[in-house]
Amino acid sequence: MKTPRLLFAFATLLATVGAPAAEAPASAPASNRLILHADQGKTAISRNIYGHFSEHLGRCIYEGYWVGEDSPIPNVRGIRQDVVEALKRIKTPVLRWPGGCFADEYHWKDGIGPRAKRPAMINTHWGGVTENNHFGTHEFMDLCEQIGCDAYISGNVGSGSVQEMMEWVEYLTSDANSPMANLRRQNGREKPWKVRYFGVGNESWGCGGNMTPEYYADQFRRYNTFVKNHGDSRVYRIACGASDFNYNWTEVLMAKVGRRMDGLSVHYYTIPTGSWGRKGSATDFGEDLYHATLRRALEMETVVTKHGAIMDQHDPQKRIGMIVDEWGVWTDVEPGTNPGFLYQQNSLRDALVAAVTLNSFNQHADRVKMANIAQTINVLQAMILTDKEKMILTPTYHVFEMYAVHHDATLLPTELQSAEYAFGPDKIPAVSVSASKDKPGKIHVTLCNLNPNQAAPVHVEVRGGTVQTVGTRILTADTMQAHNTFENPEAVKPRALPTANVVNNALLVTLPAKSVVVLEIE
Ligand code: AHR
Repeated sequence: MKTPRLLFAFATLLATVGAPAAEAPASAPASNRLILHADQGKTAISRNIYGHFSEHLGRCIYEGYWVGEDSPIPNVRGIRQDVVEALKRIKTPVLRWPGGCFADEYHWKDGIGPRAKRPAMINTHWGGVTENNHFGTHEFMDLCEQIGCDAYISGNVGSGSVQEMMEWVEYLTSDANSPMANLRRQNGREKPWKVRYFGVGNESWGCGGNMTPEYYADQFRRYNTFVKNHGDSRVYRIACGASDFNYNWTEVLMAKVGRRMDGLSVHYYTIPTGSWGRKGSATDFGEDLYHATLRRALEMETVVTKHGAIMDQHDPQKRIGMIVDEWGVWTDVEPGTNPGFLYQQNSLRDALVAAVTLNSFNQHADRVKMANIAQTINVLQAMILTDKEKMILTPTYHVFEMYAVHHDATLLPTELQSAEYAFGPDKIPAVSVSASKDKPGKIHVTLCNLNPNQAAPVHVEVRGGTVQTVGTRILTADTMQAHNTFENPEAVKPRALPTANVVNNALLVTLPAKSVVVLEIE
């Protein structure tokens, strides 16, 4: 019989983390208790949960990524380098493009060949501006190669033909002596690209064609037939999924499409007020809308659980991935900016939304195989904001950087008992958690305290593992509205806390009010 590994009961490991000992004595009462099963992980957290989405919308592509080769802003083949470097630092695993709603009116052949000769179009969804197609297939694939991420391309079902989609896949991935592969070669790319993920339509129940689920399911079957695997390319096919709580869409797709798809998407946005007409400001809000925003963000747990339960009925072995390919906070635009450009600031509140949502995806890693926050630069809950040559990182970016420790790590089961954070009659759990063990054996625990008024002491019991040192990083700020600006770009940024001492074999972590904390346990 093997010697059992050291078992740490709650009372057997004691340390204080996250605040000076005077504020968080080891004996402080904790209504939050966490049990971490260090030896029971089975499921890998796909790094693609930390994916991104970039649409031809506002200043995401143009100004965000694309400045052109002649720009004074440092660039490689027209793509700005500060942005590429920032996205490499958070280990961006996958990037979805070109939409969004834009995808269903995008005709890829307009975006290849000499730029000066590419036809322009009107971006009818987003501000009615002229799209000159200077950023097309070659530029997007170059961007992915510069970042070092996988490409996730959304094909056009709404206004595009089956032939058009079939030819795009051939252009991208075929190494044969074929018409589309030769056209690609003529345009300067000899070898095919590796395109792992391909979406067959976007929001086909709305901007992508206003289809019924039954009609879309048939369309998927038809279009997907012509999404070919060329050579050794194996395309992971993603069907357009439901919005929010439309469980019937998932039911119909699972029943009528089933294993013909590899992934089924779902979209869920957090609207602070809950009303699309007046969504609320990104930075000018009180505790009422702070609480409401987090309450609505936590609904992602319901969305994933309930769509997942329907998928389980049809696919108990979980071979079809849930792909949450649009999510994030959607507020009113910044005053004075184009309403069609969806430019919004990003505060500590957004960071907390990202942190609890990513914890939820991690906890559902057996089903959630990819997620793509909307949208990377200058649009919705962005990672990065740019103003000409200037670039700043948002609080949400910092969460993605802190949580990168979970990429491809093994999810560890957790049991959490959390205090409530109440505002008026509305209550939400104050604490959120997920934990994983990486390949070298380090454990990472990501915790959030949503309560903006009180610190949260959490008793952590690690079962089935040894604890010698605990390192801590934290993201917080003085106010819930705190955000980074071009004048003050580092108002919200993570900081490391001194490694905690393990005393008397217990770990008491004090999460400051409105904070995100990562523990590294060795
Ligand atoms: O992300 C903005 C838009 O939201 C996307 O274009 C669309 O798919 C969704 O409705």
